[in-house]
Amino acid sequence: MPIDPLLKQINPPPRLMMGPGPVNADPRVQRAMAADLLGQYDPAMTNYMNEVMALYREIFQANYHWTFLIDGTSRGAIESALVSIIEPGDKTLVPVFGRFGHLLTEIASRCGAEVIPLYKEWGEVYSAEEIGAALDKYKPKVLAVCQGDTSTTMLQPLEEIGKLCAERGVLSYVDATASIAGNVLNIEDWEIDICTAGLQKCLGGPSGSGPITISDRAAEVIKRRWHVEKGIEPVGFVPGEGSRIQSNYLDLAMIMAYWSPERLNHHTEATSMLYCARECARCILEEGLHKAIARHEIGSRAMVAGVKAMGLELFGDQENKMSNVTGVYIPKEVDGEAVRRDMLLHFGVEIGTSFGPLHGKIWRLGAMGYNARKDAILRVLSALDSCLRLHGRSSTGDDPAIAALEVFKETEKNVPDIEISPVSDSK
Ligand SMILES: Cc1ncc(COP(=O)(O)O)c(C=O)c1O
Repeated sequence: MPIDPLLKQINPPPRLMMGPGPVNADPRVQRAMAADLLGQYDPAMTNYMNEVMALYREIFQANYHWTFLIDGTSRGAIESALVSIIEPGDKTLVPVFGRFGHLLTEIASRCGAEVIPLYKEWGEVYSAEEIGAALDKYKPKVLAVCQGDTSTTMLQPLEEIGKLCAERGVLSYVDATASIAGNVLNIEDWEIDICTAGLQKCLGGPSGSGPITISDRAAEVIKRRWHVEKGIEPVGFVPGEGSRIQSNYLDLAMIMAYWSPERLNHHTEATSMLYCARECARCILEEGLHKAIARHEIGSRAMVAGVKAMGLELFGDQENKMSNVTGVYIPKEVDGEAVRRDMLLHFGVEIGTSFGPLHGKIWRLGAMGYNARKDAILRVLSALDSCLRLHGRSSTGDDPAIAALEVFKETEKNVPDIEISPVSDSK
């Protein structure tokens, strides 16, 4: 197709993204992304890199020195973690409870792991006893698990799992892409070795940067595999005894050397994404991490109240639900995709369906990051209610926005210091 050289400037339609993520970025984050570029060894830039390391130690709740960014989407960060700790033949236990657990098995097997998957019905999670028993039975080198699997909206409890691994000398890896900053996550207290994240969910940024934190124990395993590219070896460099990491771009040993005071060159740091990641963390920490988590939890209760008011059925184990996403069965009498289309077309509101066995069976309503706000939650509920009526579902009588508003009013009365009205953009 011939391209018109006079194509108009990008001007995306206004959308309120209330699915499983990505969501609208905080305007402060967008402004930070537009800041002037810097050279990668400019002291101003390396100072920003150090600030990012400090900010994300707070976000991960881990005083782990090796805390930095992987340039790429969250999947890049996941792959960097797994490829750097798994050597071909290493046993890797993966408790799967949704699509992103399957992704961990897929990445681990491409790293050459002997993958041992565990399976659960989608909508459920594992008990610590189940994980402990599997660790004893299979004796893996690595355990890899999701905290929040957005495909099912379930949150795997992790408080005991890191400790169970540490006691057995197993390296623990957690994918917290979709849960971080919207659900409790205490990496160091829970003794988790490596955790990776993304910006496009509760951190309120765009996708394209994957924060990572690495315990000293895991860093030792990675450094054993440190081999430097030809042409940039420091004088007297002695490579590690372990095998060379299978990926160049995602080689954590080389990336750690780049994020060290030596700044040994690897890739060119994605400057605008670093500004953006820095601002995401600043927004959350200025609000207070615990307050941001509480804001998501209140949003979840309001969303659930609205869904119930419409007479819709919630999906999955509600005791272990992610705060930032709510799964809802699509009522039989409507065409789920047509409802989603009309919500986007008439209200500019996006919601999600799911994958695999849940595709076309549930909708996923998200309220996360900058969008975990009262006005956004009321708008998605009202839009869904109207579109259900538009598609012939008769009213159940209760107004979902009013039901959600009751939850917000109750919270405003009891916990006045949690900001659930539109997040202030004036900071
Ligand atoms: C739990 C989880 N892990 C990994 C990913 C992959 O993230 P990305 O698309 O940024 O690579 C997602 C994306 O939705 C996710 O929800």
